[in-house]
Amino acid sequence: MPALVTCQRPIEPHTRRVHVLITAGPTREPLDPVRFLTNRSSGKMGYALAQAFIHAGHSVLLISGPTALDVPERVDFIPVETAAEMHAAVAHCLARMDIAVFAAAVADYTPARVAPHKIKKAGATLTLELVRTPDILGAARSGFGFSGTLVGFAAETEHLEANARAKLVGKHCDLIIANDVSTAGCGFDSDTNEVLLVYPDHNEALPAASKLALAHRLVTAIVALHERPGN
Ligand code: C5P
Repeated sequence: MPALVTCQRPIEPHTRRVHVLITAGPTREPLDPVRFLTNRSSGKMGYALAQAFIHAGHSVLLISGPTALDVPERVDFIPVETAAEMHAAVAHCLARMDIAVFAAAVADYTPARVAPHKIKKAGATLTLELVRTPDILGAARSGFGFSGTLVGFAAETEHLEANARAKLVGKHCDLIIANDVSTAGCGFDSDTNEVLLVYPDHNEALPAASKLALAHRLVTAIVALHERPGN
């Protein structure tokens, strides 16, 4: 694991420096030595959040699946490939964090078996057996005992608010950042995003913006949530 690098940037006088864990990017679920299942996540939103938390003076541990992005300066980084590896890395690090933001597009299923050799073409069809991956965000409270501020993402193509609210409750989050991925220029593999913030008692729509501009607004909202009275 990389050594902890201390952030030099002065922080807003009224804000405590917090430790933030971010998951980002896709996962890669291997089928055989040369093939894997994955998705279109670029990791841009998670990396922009990492950069924005650092800019605001906080410390960041980024746990990321494979992306084409450079790791932002001063960010601690754990590269992973599979959902199982991401789950293990989060399990190992979450307890010492104040805030956790789960922006990764984790594969929901993984091949039941990884073939030891390249799968040869044979019949006209090939049936793969897939099994569920661990729900990392879903395990944060009950499995890992995390009591800090917990933020998840919801990428939806319909019933945005209702689906996001079900995730907020079901995964015991403080905030779900929801985006409609059927809208052009929004979400997966895009430079811009338009999100709905779904809190336990209200929603807030943020207008479309670049992922970095949006990340700065999200950091302000997440830190304010973390610092609310009673926390
Ligand atoms: O249930 P769904 O996959 O739509 O939930 C999305 C949220 O849950 C995201 O924050 C994602 O990072 C997280 N997640 C996870 N582990 C999974 C699946 C999703 O952490 N196996």
